[in-house]
Amino acid sequence: MKPESEAIVRPARNIRGSVTLPGDKSISHRYAMLAGIAEGPSRIENYSTGADCASTLGCMRALGVAWERKDSAASVIVVQGRGLSLSAPETPLDCGNSGSTMRMLSGIVAGQKVTGDQTFVEMIGDESLSRRPMERVIKPLSAMGAKISSHHGKPPLRITGAHLKSIDYKMPVASAQVKSCLLFAGLFAEGETRIEEPLRTRDHGEVALRAFGAQLQRKAIPGGGNEVRIRGGQRLLGIEARIPGDLSSAAFFLCAAALFPGSQLTLSHLLMNPTRARLLDILVQMGLRISVTQLEEIHGEMVGSLQAEGVRLTSATIAGADSAALIDEIPVLAAIAPYTEQGIEVRDAKELRVKESDRIAAVASNLRRMGAQVEELEDGLRIPGGQTLHGAEIDSCSDHRIAMAFAVAALRAKGETLIRGAESAAISYPAFFATLEALAER
Ligand code: S3P
Repeated sequence: MKPESEAIVRPARNIRGSVTLPGDKSISHRYAMLAGIAEGPSRIENYSTGADCASTLGCMRALGVAWERKDSAASVIVVQGRGLSLSAPETPLDCGNSGSTMRMLSGIVAGQKVTGDQTFVEMIGDESLSRRPMERVIKPLSAMGAKISSHHGKPPLRITGAHLKSIDYKMPVASAQVKSCLLFAGLFAEGETRIEEPLRTRDHGEVALRAFGAQLQRKAIPGGGNEVRIRGGQRLLGIEARIPGDLSSAAFFLCAAALFPGSQLTLSHLLMNPTRARLLDILVQMGLRISVTQLEEIHGEMVGSLQAEGVRLTSATIAGADSAALIDEIPVLAAIAPYTEQGIEVRDAKELRVKESDRIAAVASNLRRMGAQVEELEDGLRIPGGQTLHGAEIDSCSDHRIAMAFAVAALRAKGETLIRGAESAAISYPAFFATLEALAER
């Protein structure tokens, strides 16, 4: 276990400056996996510097995929694709803290035939990942023909791959990780796989598959759902790409800027994928002024440069499809809720309880430590506005998004805040605290 580190965050009077964010985490995972099973090399620039995406690269190497970092910032990688057939790892695949790695990669592992003494591939994770639900991938992958054992539906997973059958599957939980897992498995399956999701989740899996040359069909389903179909046996080809800046990491700086009427923030080369950009609509509805320029499409992903100007923040209700669309941004929106005029209510977000930590409980307890009034609901939070918070000792619960959300809340508190477990920010954004410090005017 890594030693716990602390960060001290002092109140600020403004956010001002310009940032280019590390590559989007969701896209980085998918590009690393697909580059590994593509034919020929892929060169990927602005690969996420977070530890989660390094876990994916580590697993790909264990599966026989050669890759190397090409620059000192470690954000340019060249991956030598092996085609659809990978080799048997000699040790368990260590997914670290990364649910994305375990869930999505299990779809690829399920399609591999491993020969030798040990016929299964083991996937393991850290303490937090070992508590997270995996039935959501075990059930459909088993229906496709893989044999998977687990610890009561949780990691470690032992996957015996097979010649997979295609599946027509209606996902009970709206999860982009599960959708990508099944689309990846669909590449190895006989026939056409059809996946239906109850709500439209982020589509990076579909966009990335197309970028690597696969064909798939998507159709909206009445009521907000979505269907995706993919034929098995398609070959992927390596690509050259630059990954847009991570919008979920940008959320912390956008919410920090939103706290101060005088803020001016520019975020360049930022991901603008419409299935991820709901945060921008919500912040605009709450009063933040946002303009986007230099919009372009790279390998099917929208990218742009964003300017934000702080004004007074009103209120928001996040529920239904919005909760799924904003799932990773809810902790930081909730952390700034007490400073809005009328508060924020979050509903239909039970999934937050099975993330890297129970994020509903973690937000509620840390806000209370800062002196806020909060109502914790089974599926969300009700946080009144117009509150004054004081600096406090925050427990990140070893969860990157909790550590970063409360660093933002601390900027408008009275007095200093100490964030315990601040090192967890490195899961998605190692330079977060230094960048926040550079943007904060005092
Ligand atoms: C992700 C999907 C979401 C999100 C996670 C990344 C992805 O998880 O919370 O951080 O890249 O597909 P779920 O699939 O569990 O909703």
